[in-house]
Amino acid sequence: MKILLVGSGGREHALAWKLAQSPQVQTVYVAPGNGGTATAKQTAAGITNLPISGLQELVDFAKREKIHLTVVGPEAPLAAGIVDLFRANGLRIFGPTQLAAQLESSKDFSKAFMKRHGIPTADYQTFSSTLEAHAYIDAKGAPIVIKADGLAAGKGVVVAMNLAEAHAAVDMMLADNKLGNAGARVVIEEFLTGEEASFIVLVDGKNALALATSQDHKRLLDGDQGPNTGGMGAYSPAPVVTPEIHARALREVIMPTVRGMEADGLPYTGFLYAGLMITPDGKIKCLEFNCRMGDPETQPIMARLRSDLLNVLDHAVDGTLNTVDLDWDRRTALGVVVAAKNYPETPRTEDAITGIAPDTEDQLTFHAGTKLEGGKLVSSGGRVLCVVGLSDTVRGAQQKAYEAIAKIHFDGMQYRQDIGYRAVK
Ligand SMILES: Nc1ncnc2c1ncn2[C@@H]1O[C@H](COP(=O)(O)OP(=O)(O)OP(=O)(O)O)[C@@H](O)[C@H]1O
Ligand SMILES: [Mg+2]
Repeated sequence: MKILLVGSGGREHALAWKLAQSPQVQTVYVAPGNGGTATAKQTAAGITNLPISGLQELVDFAKREKIHLTVVGPEAPLAAGIVDLFRANGLRIFGPTQLAAQLESSKDFSKAFMKRHGIPTADYQTFSSTLEAHAYIDAKGAPIVIKADGLAAGKGVVVAMNLAEAHAAVDMMLADNKLGNAGARVVIEEFLTGEEASFIVLVDGKNALALATSQDHKRLLDGDQGPNTGGMGAYSPAPVVTPEIHARALREVIMPTVRGMEADGLPYTGFLYAGLMITPDGKIKCLEFNCRMGDPETQPIMARLRSDLLNVLDHAVDGTLNTVDLDWDRRTALGVVVAAKNYPETPRTEDAITGIAPDTEDQLTFHAGTKLEGGKLVSSGGRVLCVVGLSDTVRGAQQKAYEAIAKIHFDGMQYRQDIGYRAVK
């Protein structure tokens, strides 16, 4: 069978790597892919880059090549309606429709949805008027959180620790239009404290199947200092998600969401990522939804998945996830992102990358911002690699990952030294 996977990041390399292990899979086409998917030789099945990204081109390719299933990695094509277009053409695809993807593509939609369906989340209000937003901030005080309504590639959230920062964020989004249409409305919400975790499930319209738990590290520097990034590392499982929290997340967040979307006439299919804040007294609040797998959470999660991913996704598309049980490697997988010089502001590209060792049983390297140039591997984006270590302990998995990174070199490479610290403290 032929599979089409849309995207080009570390998440997509990990999904392609896992899909290619399925005995039913002949080729995984990654559109457009990266330097890692271009050179993937780890499995019997082929992984092939496909240099297209237009939605209609993808539909034409899927028809021509009789693609069995299309899987969508990133949010942009989902928000652009790729699932609607594929379905209209009679093609099998895994992901939410454009309207259902509003759970991620509009913070106002997702907050109103959570409120309507009694899903625990921070109190909020939505504004398009600069004056009213400023007045609300003065009334509520700081710390307070300002979020652009639309997709802003990780730049749309300001956690303001004082009033000046909060007012500046409102001016940046509403008055100065710095985020364009995405910032034409803002959600202003209550500041929450606690420990965050990523809770990712597969949804088939009615049933939800939880993937292994994970925790991401958003800040650039050790000790969660420095600017927010797309994610500097992640590990799975995340001990903060105890069996009790797990049950609670399914009962209070995931299942009300699946049922709520169905009741609202927008049945949800696809990966569903709930960003959770776990408060010290063991309560949870849903910070946000994403309509896709997380990056870098996907890399350690796929490293631990033992079940046949294609088989699971087929059940998800057919609405029979209730018949599936997932099998996980009991070890911890821990992924460290190696980023380019000047990431996240203005990442430098075109640096030659050397020293990536072949994958082993407990060390895997997934590519993100890499490409092949004249047969040589060079950097092409902010987050360049995600190196995953596996071991019976978090500390052991850390050692495996950092040991592999020590052999890798490119000019200006930077990475956090403390991925997983919350689980080893
Ligand atoms: N109400 C809140 N209180 C405290 N911190 C918050 C709150 N909302 C968001 N944050 C912080 O800001 C981060 C980003 O917020 P959010 O997840 O809503 O934005 P996003 O841009 O959609 O992120 P992602 O790139 O993960 O999809 C969160 O991971 C969390 O650390
Ligand atoms: Mg988000």
